[in-house]
Amino acid sequence: MKVAIIGQGYVGLTISAFAGEFFDVVGFDNNQKIVSQLNSGISHIEGVEGLVLQKWIKAGRFKATTSGSDIADVDLVVIAVPTPLSKDRQPDLTYIDAACKTIGENVKKSVLVINESTSFPGTLRKYIKPAIEKYSVSLIEHLYAISPERVDPGRRDYNQKNTPRLYAGLTAEASEKTREFYSRFCDELVEVSSPEVAEAAKLFENTFRQVNIALVNEFAQIANALGISVYETLDAANTKPYGFMKFTPSAGVGGHCIPVDPTYLAAVAEEHGAPTTFIRRANDVNLAMSKYVVDRVQADNGESLQGKSVLVVGVAYKPNVADVRETAAELVIEHLRSRGAVVSWHDDVVGTWHGETSSPLSGADITVVITKHDALGERDILSSAPYVFDTTGKVAGAKGL
Ligand SMILES: NC(=O)c1ccc[n+]([C@@H]2O[C@H](COP(=O)([O-])OP(=O)(O)OC[C@H]3O[C@@H](n4cnc5c(N)ncnc54)[C@H](O)[C@@H]3O)[C@@H](O)[C@H]2O)c1
Repeated sequence: MKVAIIGQGYVGLTISAFAGEFFDVVGFDNNQKIVSQLNSGISHIEGVEGLVLQKWIKAGRFKATTSGSDIADVDLVVIAVPTPLSKDRQPDLTYIDAACKTIGENVKKSVLVINESTSFPGTLRKYIKPAIEKYSVSLIEHLYAISPERVDPGRRDYNQKNTPRLYAGLTAEASEKTREFYSRFCDELVEVSSPEVAEAAKLFENTFRQVNIALVNEFAQIANALGISVYETLDAANTKPYGFMKFTPSAGVGGHCIPVDPTYLAAVAEEHGAPTTFIRRANDVNLAMSKYVVDRVQADNGESLQGKSVLVVGVAYKPNVADVRETAAELVIEHLRSRGAVVSWHDDVVGTWHGETSSPLSGADITVVITKHDALGERDILSSAPYVFDTTGKVAGAKGL
């Protein structure tokens, strides 16, 4: 079986690496640089080993391409393209639309199309199917299914194989074929009654995290006002063996999932006149954490940051990845600079960002830790400035939330 995977980023390349063991994989991406690297066996995604790609390339089972004609004769297509927010913070399906165009214009026979990109309920039925049909040169009846992706880049305990996977087809045949495909490299498949349930479940999973992160971020402020340790209090609550799940405070949420997916749910809810109180409020609380952190740092430093050199440690949105999308570091740096601080940042995993490069971990007046990669030593962080504020709870001896 020949499989095309549209989008070779975190999701698409991860699937390519797993699928390459069983199928001929065509990794379609419109970024020529990524495609060239992949064809040389170089992975740009944490958790996907270049050696694995090289193995599939050598066996003739993996090829990356920017050319639509390479997917003409495939049997199955997976969509794994970005689903960001537009400038006015609304769901932006332009990448999905472009992927549908590629499929419609190039696939020459009836195939199974599986969407893995995160989007609101109804995307498969009301958007993807009609779009592919609109772009198809001749009328081809494809099968359609959704299987939302749950990959957590950088995570070692859960991966494609041992993370249960939801799926649903628009027809029973589509469901069955989807199950056959994933059962080769995923241990547990969970069929739900409609694509809309699978799409909504994915959004709810991340909304659950967004709301609980906001709650713990608010609680961190309460604990500080009461003069007690938020971490000790959370550990104490976590001794309850049921009915509690521990979330930890931070400078805000980053990545393209938690700050984005709940807004997809809110948009479709509001279209149907349903309330979105928690989602909208949680977003505001998480966004406001950057200001709270800078307020705390300023209060500890004579109520002025004017002219002080501040080193922000960790600009990736989470540890051990180079991904800076929606990182909380961005807003923290903005607040620091607006108060006259001279800001540089240290993150050797990210390297370069916004045209700036990672600075040495030393010589600052103030260090603010946003993300702590495992490779960073606590002592090195503590000796980088006389005052260190840690938002991660991982640097013992520093000031913190
Ligand atoms: N990264 C994650 O941890 C994660 C987890 C679960 C779900 N998701 C969802 O999966 C989807 C993909 O996310 P990602 O993190 O892999 O994104 P990504 O930015 O890492 O990768 C997307 C890739 O698609 C390519 N691309 C964009 N438009 C294209 C087009 N028209 N044709 C072909 N290639 C195109 C880009 O060049 C890029 O390489 C999103 O909906 C995201 O919300 C991501």
